[in-house]
Amino acid sequence: MLPILLLLALAGAVSVSAAAPSPCIISPLGAGLDDTDQVLTAIAKCGHGGHTVLEEGVYNITRKMTWDLVDAKVDLRGSLSFVPDIQFWLNANNTYRVVFIQSQASWFVITGSDFEVDAHDTGGIQGNGQPWWNFFTTTPRADGDGRPISLTLFQARRGIIRNFAIDAPPFWCNCIAESQNVVYDGMKCNASNTNPMFAGQNIVPNTDGIDTYRSDNIMMANWDITSGDDCLAIKGNSTNVVAQNITCRGGNGIAFGSLGQYANLTDIVENVFMENLTMTRIDPAVQPNMGNGVYFKSWDGSINGAPPTGGGGGAGFTKNVTLKNVVLDRVNRPTTITQTNDAKTGDLPSIYKFEDLHYENWSGTSLTNLTVDLACSSAAHCTDITFSGFDVSVPEGQTPQIICQNAENVSGETCVLVS
Ligand SMILES: *[C@@H]1O[C@H](CO)[C@@H](O)[C@H](O)[C@H]1NC(C)=O
Ligand SMILES: *[C@@H]1O[C@H](CO)[C@@H](O)[C@H](O)[C@H]1NC(C)=O
Ligand SMILES: *[C@@H]1O[C@H](CO)[C@@H](O)[C@H](O)[C@H]1NC(C)=O
Ligand SMILES: *[C@@H]1O[C@H](CO)[C@@H](O)[C@H](O)[C@H]1NC(C)=O
Ligand SMILES: *[C@@H]1O[C@H](CO)[C@@H](O)[C@H](O)[C@H]1NC(C)=O
Ligand SMILES: *[C@@H]1O[C@H](CO)[C@@H](O)[C@H](O)[C@H]1NC(C)=O
Ligand SMILES: *[C@@H]1O[C@H](CO)[C@@H](O)[C@H](O)[C@H]1NC(C)=O
Ligand SMILES: *[C@@H]1O[C@H](CO)[C@@H](O)[C@H](O)[C@H]1NC(C)=O
Ligand SMILES: *[C@@H]1O[C@H](CO)[C@@H](O)[C@H](O)[C@H]1NC(C)=O
Ligand SMILES: *[C@@H]1O[C@H](CO)[C@@H](O)[C@H](O)[C@H]1NC(C)=O
Ligand SMILES: *[C@@H]1O[C@H](CO)[C@@H](O)[C@H](O)[C@H]1NC(C)=O
Repeated sequence: MLPILLLLALAGAVSVSAAAPSPCIISPLGAGLDDTDQVLTAIAKCGHGGHTVLEEGVYNITRKMTWDLVDAKVDLRGSLSFVPDIQFWLNANNTYRVVFIQSQASWFVITGSDFEVDAHDTGGIQGNGQPWWNFFTTTPRADGDGRPISLTLFQARRGIIRNFAIDAPPFWCNCIAESQNVVYDGMKCNASNTNPMFAGQNIVPNTDGIDTYRSDNIMMANWDITSGDDCLAIKGNSTNVVAQNITCRGGNGIAFGSLGQYANLTDIVENVFMENLTMTRIDPAVQPNMGNGVYFKSWDGSINGAPPTGGGGGAGFTKNVTLKNVVLDRVNRPTTITQTNDAKTGDLPSIYKFEDLHYENWSGTSLTNLTVDLACSSAAHCTDITFSGFDVSVPEGQTPQIICQNAENVSGETCVLVS
């Protein structure tokens, strides 16, 4: 199978020169002290052709950081704790803007080639998100407002991120942009409100597990994401993507989109294989939402404002997607296609096309009876959608409903056609 070959190919490629004279080994300096300099010094010394070890413990990180890794290995046994100084990070001078889509900000960027970062299930990132989430209950949130992505891979080639945990991300947990041949094996993200004042509310929107953009050949295996938003969000120009053994706890489910936000750019999503996905509803006091299983979304055909917050009118297609072995636990909507992101009355229909989508072996429960809702655009019909073994239970006494609007050549299920 492709995934295994990919992993082996990468494992072979990362012939990390652990043979470098001596590894750079650091430990946290301790309470009240700033670890940023010693971390950057270690990476500067051993990040090309070397081996860096961050021993267990908490590293106090007080400013933006790029790790440029070439033929290198990093054992991140400890946790990089980004100081929760909200006003500092919201100042655009204090983050990177390498993620083009929606002009999102990053406080930690990994770039380079032929590297491995292994966090050994003991290390990763402490995002200290709780004060951020509290703050943004009264301050409006907007895409591109500067809330930082916790871990950004940018222009990375042949990299592996392993056994990594990101706790309390203020915003997106991960983003991969302009990268090729990257494997994430073992990723935990946990955006859980613990402030009793907000019990029962989703105060962690935008804590997506990952957004993929302008990247090819990405493998995500063994993920566990607790979020108030998209578990995985596959955005424009993500190709040859594999996701396996992904557990999504709460939030919106797995998204393809939103696509077509930029009228001047074509969003291509092609060859995506996902298997062994679980969407599970959690304690509603922590996270009340468990919206979708897997859903597809595009902006409509009119341009309403400009990105990062507005947009629409973009073209492109999502093609050749397989979604296999999916277990749902009390989701609101097992699967949907919607093409009206941010739509206004009288807008033009979307010109973005979804095609060649394959659903195999779905089970579990939906809280509503609309198990499949394909609301495709009159200007770009969805085509070639197959269902095999789609067996999702609906509430007792109800009958599953499958709606197809502007969807052609749907096989394996009987659609109720809606015009
Ligand atoms: C982090 O370092 C700053 C100094 O730059 C210090 O003021 C702060 O107390 C440190 N934080 C922790 C948790 O040690
Ligand atoms: C960002 O840095 C520039 C150049 O140093 C400076 O002119 C600007 O005032 C800074 N912006 C903020 C918000 O601090
Ligand atoms: C996420 O964090 C919350 C709060 O710390 C904790 O109760 C929960 O067990 C964590 N979830 C997972 C899956 O580890
Ligand atoms: C699936 O991923 C979880 C981590 O989220 C891991 O504990 C488990 O061992 C993985 N299962 C398989 C079959 O690899
Ligand atoms: C597309 O439009 C965005 C603004 O919406 C602009 O920032 C970007 O440079 C444009 N890209 C191209 C390739 O024209
Ligand atoms: C996607 O790639 C195509 C070329 O293959 C390019 O025309 C388009 O602008 C790219 N879109 C984005 C969002 O970068
Ligand atoms: C469709 O995607 C799968 C991966 O899921 C890939 O193996 C296959 O080659 C792709 N089909 C085409 C026609 O590109
Ligand atoms: C996915 O789950 C199936 C059924 O449990 C199992 O046979 C298969 O090995 C799993 N695939 C991966 C990549 O873990
Ligand atoms: C269908 O999916 C379930 C849940 O992942 C799995 O246990 C079962 O083995 C799958 N069936 C087949 C035929 O792969
Ligand atoms: C209908 O879908 C099947 C399976 O994806 C495909 O082989 C066939 O070419 C499609 N037919 C039309 C008319 O699009
Ligand atoms: C679907 O659920 C709605 C309420 O949410 C109900 O009015 C309708 O009768 C149900 N349809 C079927 C076929 O069970």
